[in-house]
Amino acid sequence: MASEGTVALVTGAARGIGRGIALRLARDGAAVIVADLADHPDAEQTMAELRSAGADAVYVPTDVSRVAEARGLVNAGVEAFGRIDVLVNNAGVQRHAAFLDAEEDDYDLVLGVNLKGPFFLAQAFARHVRERGGGGRIVNISSVHEELPFPNFASYCASKGGLKMLTRDLAVELAPLDITVNNIAPGAIRTSINDSLLDDPAKLQALRDDIPAGRMGTPEEVAEAVSFAISPGAAYLTGSTITVDGGLMWNYREQ
Ligand SMILES: NC(=O)c1ccc[n+]([C@@H]2O[C@H](COP(=O)([O-])OP(=O)(O)OC[C@H]3O[C@@H](n4cnc5c(N)ncnc54)[C@H](O)[C@@H]3O)[C@@H](O)[C@H]2O)c1
Repeated sequence: MASEGTVALVTGAARGIGRGIALRLARDGAAVIVADLADHPDAEQTMAELRSAGADAVYVPTDVSRVAEARGLVNAGVEAFGRIDVLVNNAGVQRHAAFLDAEEDDYDLVLGVNLKGPFFLAQAFARHVRERGGGGRIVNISSVHEELPFPNFASYCASKGGLKMLTRDLAVELAPLDITVNNIAPGAIRTSINDSLLDDPAKLQALRDDIPAGRMGTPEEVAEAVSFAISPGAAYLTGSTITVDGGLMWNYREQ
């Protein structure tokens, strides 16, 4: 199996894309460290699915936006499995606010989870990799909004744009440790983050009309790209973004 014997840490894995990634990597043969907020109502479901896939898995309640907790997460993963080979920074949030009305709390939450979390988790992971002599993979779940504007979601765009440059920088800085660093940029994926859209048939149809593939994507389709990015065959892939969006990003049409 593609990831047999590897240990993968996936943040925000209680539901949505993170759960899809955790399950895919487990089916590829990895042991999985599931990280999400404490007492998450969906975490047990992810753990149950991992167990029935035959995976070794632990759940480590963590708020990734808190640096001490992010460091504690890496320590807990190493304690559980002896090493961590793969870090998937997937946890993410978005807050709707017109730019002129955006509040400091919303900005701090979005940048804290989406950018500060990946920054310090990558640091803790890279320090662990250095201690055990090198070799590792970091995959950040970014968004098409690392490139595309998203009016009323300026903090989200700033976080994902920042994640793009973090990836490019770390690809260079961490190459001597044989760590590759890549982003996966999903388009519109059917998860709870899109609940308000999924509950609005007119908006949903307008979105489908904008996607050349004619539909939203699935967590499994994002997980497929993660599985590739951490595979032995992707050893020369670093500093890149793989866009998984059914063609949404480049669908400019004359009206
Ligand atoms: N669904 C989409 O259309 C889409 C598109 C592009 C990018 N993304 C990105 O994919 C990632 C996953 O999104 P999703 O759609 O699965 O969303 P989701 O809301 O279903 O899941 C996000 C998970 O992150 C967890 N999380 C939130 N804050 C956290 C924190 N401080 N510490 C630890 N965990 C935390 C949540 O509890 C939740 O389980 C996010 O980074 C998101 O920006 C999603």
